[in-house]
Amino acid sequence: MSAGPVVWWGRRAVLFQEETEKDVGKPKVVLGVSGGIAAYKACDLLRRLTESGHDVRVVPTASALHFVGAATWSALSGHPVPTEVWDDVHEVPHVRIGQHADLVVVAPATADMLAKAAHGLADDLLTNTLLTARCPVVFAPAMHTEMWEHPATQENVATLRRRGAVVVEPAVGRLTGADSGKGRLPDPGEIFEVCRRVLARGVGEPDLAGRHVVVSAGGTREPLDPVRFLGNRSSGKQGYALARTAAARGARVTLIAANTGLPDPAGVDVVPVGTAVQLREEVLRAAADADAVVMAAAVADFRPAAYAAGKIKKQDGREPEPVALVRNPDILAEISADRARPGQVVVGFAAETDDVLANGRAKLKRKGCDLLVVNEVGERKTFGSEENEAVVLDAEGGETPVAHGPKEALADTVWDLVAGRLG
Ligand SMILES: Cc1cc2nc3c(=O)[nH]c(=O)nc-3n(C[C@H](O)[C@H](O)[C@H](O)COP(=O)(O)O)c2cc1C
Repeated sequence: MSAGPVVWWGRRAVLFQEETEKDVGKPKVVLGVSGGIAAYKACDLLRRLTESGHDVRVVPTASALHFVGAATWSALSGHPVPTEVWDDVHEVPHVRIGQHADLVVVAPATADMLAKAAHGLADDLLTNTLLTARCPVVFAPAMHTEMWEHPATQENVATLRRRGAVVVEPAVGRLTGADSGKGRLPDPGEIFEVCRRVLARGVGEPDLAGRHVVVSAGGTREPLDPVRFLGNRSSGKQGYALARTAAARGARVTLIAANTGLPDPAGVDVVPVGTAVQLREEVLRAAADADAVVMAAAVADFRPAAYAAGKIKKQDGREPEPVALVRNPDILAEISADRARPGQVVVGFAAETDDVLANGRAKLKRKGCDLLVVNEVGERKTFGSEENEAVVLDAEGGETPVAHGPKEALADTVWDLVAGRLG
């Protein structure tokens, strides 16, 4: 045997050992990549997973390697990339990789991969891994609209979901070439959020399956002239966490998003709006057949009474005219008083600076909603943060405190309470 291969195998064995020690205690994720044009976006997902403390093994299919090479997967994951069941046979990779995983995520999942997974085919390393994995499995499909909508693909997706896999709905948008429609891979950040959530909570019961929920998020902007507006600091992150978690629990979700600039949560219908009046119109439209409406958006109480068609100019030596304001509609009070369907659950949010619970209780009564999420605004609890803490008040006088933690945790508590009320 020549010296070359001996040194190479020796170095690789050492690398495996070092990496095993380095990765002790980290959640083990298998990132399966199948042969779609969106394979390059899986590099971003891989980065997010490794940078947030996951030990990731990438298993690309032969077709995926036409799009992104093994060197990229290896360098980004910090591990060798097995591409064949026949590589390192003494380690039985076709069984071991799946057995040791805490999560398998396939992104992008081609129509072909969904079909193979649904039918239990095992003709390459990734399909073998899918059969041996006993952990949660997430598929993020990406393909042309015709392929996605084909009854064969839809039946395969239904089969996988019935067996407990999480199949993320593709996004709507630009596809390969000039086409656009449903079938685009969701934003890698959103697939990452799904993975994080599944790792934290497991696949869970889809207790909102068959329900339609409406969530408002962000902050309205009330224009003064073509370049200025009256706005607020709401980032929309809490509303997006609510939308994402509801979708993960099986709900059909309509997210009315006011000026957030955040990527669309996977599997959620997003309706962009600007002003309070537009938000009211879209919330009322979506609420008509909704089981629950959660108003997490910060809606401006007032708007400028007049809109100047041209930019308001500075006048030499003169103070500006005062801006007259008029009241905006009170959407939370309106939908609470006039429920679009019997048993519809309405949830409001209140940001308070002092006397938090007393003010929250008074607001709950005034608005007539079922639940009010009260959070104290202040240091470490500012708009835009990734975390939140709150007390959820209910119309019967109950209080559910939610400790400081990710916005998803608060969102899950809200859905637990909503699901309880929906029975
Ligand atoms: C340029 C190009 C782009 C493709 N994009 C997709 C895609 O986005 N989704 C898909 O399901 N198939 C796509 N295909 C077809 C798959 O590559 C093909 O079905 C292949 O057999 C999938 O193999 P795999 O599932 O083992 O990775 C594409 C093919 C080519 C040549």
